[in-house]
Amino acid sequence: MQIVPHPHPALRFRSVPVVRIDDALRKIVREMFELMYAAEGIGLAANQVGLPYRLFILNLTADPEESDQEHVFINPEITQRKGNQEAEEGCLSLPKLYHQVRRADEVTVEAYDIDGTGFEVTVKDLASRAVQHELDHLDGVLFIDRLTEAGKREVAPKVLDFETAFRQGQASGSIPSDAELQAELHRLVTLQS
Ligand code: CO
Repeated sequence: MQIVPHPHPALRFRSVPVVRIDDALRKIVREMFELMYAAEGIGLAANQVGLPYRLFILNLTADPEESDQEHVFINPEITQRKGNQEAEEGCLSLPKLYHQVRRADEVTVEAYDIDGTGFEVTVKDLASRAVQHELDHLDGVLFIDRLTEAGKREVAPKVLDFETAFRQGQASGSIPSDAELQAELHRLVTLQS
């Protein structure tokens, strides 16, 4: 398992609901936490590790010692949004790229935890931003899609650098082709159902 960079097709894939919360899934989630901590992130969506399933993880402290701050959101849905906030955002699939993003200030989200128990939580500030950012991933949306036109122009050169590096990797054979990566995503969707 590894974190995939933009423009990996998994990041543009509309993920499918998780149908089983079992030991295999708990193992995947554990590996995701390890990768997230290694990358010093506060959130990670399953499609960022090439898995087209609707789940993401958060630990806003980014500190593996603070395991009580670990949260897993399986099949999450935002049921209410309130207000607006704007703050800087980044993404482990676009390392070292940051920009101001406008988001809802407060969101209520329903999801299942890693034991399969349903929960509902209302979050503000950073937690709210992280939930919206990660849930976007599950729909194939990146934070760079949420920028103003001016913001998109500002980040365009860096985004192009990611795209150039990825295409070079494909040309050299170190990264599979888009067709192969798409086939793998569809295989993983079939596995799940
Ligand atoms: Co992200």
